Amino acid sequence: MLVLGIESSCDETGVALVDTAGKDVPRLLSHALYSQIDMHQAYGGVVPELASRDHIRRVLPLTQEVMKQAQRSLAQVDVIAYTRGPGLAGALLVGAGVACSLAAALAKPVMGVHHLEGHLLSPFLSADPPEFPFVALLVSGGHTQLMRVDRVGSYQLLGETIDDAAGEAFDKSAKLMGLPYPGGPHLSKLAQQGDGAAFKLPRPLLHSGNLDFSFAGLKTAVLTQAKKLGPELESRKADLAASTQAAIVEVLVKKSLSAMTQTGLQRLVVAGGVGANALLRSQLNAACQNRGIRVHYPELDFCTDNGAMIALAAGMRLQAGLETLQHGYTFDVKPRWDLAALQPELADAR
Ligand code: KG4
Ligand code: ZN
Repeated sequence: MLVLGIESSCDETGVALVDTAGKDVPRLLSHALYSQIDMHQAYGGVVPELASRDHIRRVLPLTQEVMKQAQRSLAQVDVIAYTRGPGLAGALLVGAGVACSLAAALAKPVMGVHHLEGHLLSPFLSADPPEFPFVALLVSGGHTQLMRVDRVGSYQLLGETIDDAAGEAFDKSAKLMGLPYPGGPHLSKLAQQGDGAAFKLPRPLLHSGNLDFSFAGLKTAVLTQAKKLGPELESRKADLAASTQAAIVEVLVKKSLSAMTQTGLQRLVVAGGVGANALLRSQLNAACQNRGIRVHYPELDFCTDNGAMIALAAGMRLQAGLETLQHGYTFDVKPRWDLAALQPELADAR
């Protein structure tokens, strides 16, 4: 089966085509991505209306590019999948509208996909795919969650942030330091030249005894520290960046290890944009190696938003028999949508 996937939940337009022949992990045939980062940088963050308008401009040319790369025609596509949520409502509506219109024109079934399920399954596209069951650390711009994943469609929430997400903590701290949007990659690059122990920053909820996170206080501590430094901030910025990164990473690593202990599982999957962070990867690798735990990551290209993970998640749900293919072309989007609500027994409530 050929599954076309369209992602448009935030500031990246992604399109991809996978082939779900047999029971093997769907094979990625082609993918194309357009990032709006340059456009939003002038505003210091994503401007939702501009994001929606840009998705409209990009989605069809990217679809044509994907079909051309894969040397297939749209008529050969069996299912069209799109990100139904969570994300920016206007941006989601573009992907949903285009997917449903294309599907209606081609008389093909259409399928809405949960963006976080895409992130969570994205390591299956890597050369070293995980096996079920595993613990997933989902760390993106909008979410920070630990989940127990027993199979496709079975996602049990173990803990999550009670305020800001880890990506948000990177982005907001970076903004306070005058770094460009999106702050995560810029802050971590600057941190390479700094000392992570230079400033004592809080590790919120580190000893809370549960698997929840909190990052809002960290951002305030970074602001207080920046104010205290005053004109000295410029020369100490790398140290402040390194200390901020060290605090976020330490919390993510320790909570992930607690989740491994609590579940008794031996595999950890890290997904979402913050999963690209080099310090997080090296510290998790070292800590897990000591405990005989295998850690899996998506390829760097598939850590941040992309169409491949949406086509993949659709393909894997179809293979698992979790979807009845719909030929109805009315659609809605879900800007807020709990991943745990995808549990098969809860699916009827969707
Ligand atoms: O998964 P994603 O592309 O979008 C959402 O679904 O939110 O994640 C974007 C987030 C941003 O907050 C960005 O700053 C962060 O991932 N990010 C990073 C790195 N690369 C992206 N954070 C830290 N270090 C990085 N290397
Ligand atoms: Zn995402």
